[in-house]
Amino acid sequence: MNSLVSTTAIEAQSQAASEEVVRLTDVKRRFGTTSALDGISLTVKRGEILGIIGRSGAGKSTLIRCLNGLERADSGEILIEGRDITELSEQDLQPLRRRIGMIFQHFNLLSAKTVEENVALPLKIEGLAKGERLKRAHELLELVGLADKAKAYPASLSGGQKQRVGIARALTARPALLLSDEATSALDPETTRSILALLKDINRKLGLTILLITHEMEVVRGIADRVAVIDAGRIVEEGQVWSVFANPQAEITGSLLGGIRPQLPEHIAGRLSAAAGSEAILSVDLAGPQAQGALFAELSAALPHSFRLVHGGIDHIQNQPVARFFIAVPARDPALAGKVEQFLTARSARVEVLGYDTDHA
Ligand SMILES: Nc1ncnc2c1ncn2[C@@H]1O[C@H](COP(=O)(O)OP(=O)(O)OP(=O)(O)O)[C@@H](O)[C@H]1O
Ligand SMILES: [Mg+2]
Repeated sequence: MNSLVSTTAIEAQSQAASEEVVRLTDVKRRFGTTSALDGISLTVKRGEILGIIGRSGAGKSTLIRCLNGLERADSGEILIEGRDITELSEQDLQPLRRRIGMIFQHFNLLSAKTVEENVALPLKIEGLAKGERLKRAHELLELVGLADKAKAYPASLSGGQKQRVGIARALTARPALLLSDEATSALDPETTRSILALLKDINRKLGLTILLITHEMEVVRGIADRVAVIDAGRIVEEGQVWSVFANPQAEITGSLLGGIRPQLPEHIAGRLSAAAGSEAILSVDLAGPQAQGALFAELSAALPHSFRLVHGGIDHIQNQPVARFFIAVPARDPALAGKVEQFLTARSARVEVLGYDTDHA
């Protein structure tokens, strides 16, 4: 065997591992007859924000608890910065847990302690002197925009401010990974956006790796780089956020996306029939680099009066256009819907004939 080659291979392997903050391989956890985790494999790279989305009971919190060692997996490997935590004793887990910060839906602040004391608490556990602890706490309160609330008590803060304190506290021990379990679920939409913006800002400034667990697509859409969809303890779909939004493969993904993707208005959907011969209603999906052209202008030029726009729009996710439109194709020429479909499909759009609208005048 060529030793030079094998050394290089090992180096490459360990470099790849150091780029991965988290690697799960076939992780399983059962509760009685419930498979809460049914063979989960995923990786989170350094500096990345991975969103994990699933409906209630899908296994999200179990996954997070296995990651920070609060729950033991039945089988599988859980590597944090290359170390398998499934084999560690409770005592050996402690230093590794400090590499992981957590934020929660209900903030979990200590009400009898001030904001700065809450933020400094993880450092007290580490045995740092009080002056050092408070210095670090103030740096972090500055980072989350709450420097003026250092002496306040949690009860006097708004939900968004409490979560900022939670974020500061999670970062005091300089973790490699931030776990967020529904951290914005108790907040109104505007506050949610400001907390997500803060997380993105911290991700950029500190290169912090974030694993974001949520049941809201809006959260994933706002800041994640990649998304994994979990259902009944399994990852059913995974990919770059814009691409999963543009072309969801699993049924559950489609239904989780329902609220934030254009849908055919109900009064039209309700009167669609399978009877060809009336106006055809088509959905047109186009996304990413292929979506740059003037698709509908070209369609108009090639096939004049072949369609009218019914509904839809263009979103931008991760700087990529994600377009979804509904168009109606008149019935005057029975072959027209097919021609329109062919024209759009040839330009990388995904087209589906949803049905025929008999009632349209
Ligand atoms: N300690 C436990 N004992 C028994 N069953 C459990 C336990 N923890 C979780 N489960 C079950 O495992 C499944 C996954 O639960 P988990 O809490 O991970 O879901 P989740 O995705 O976080 O849901 P939610 O969005 O409602 O928080 C559920 O069926 C739940 O009832
Ligand atoms: Mg949960």
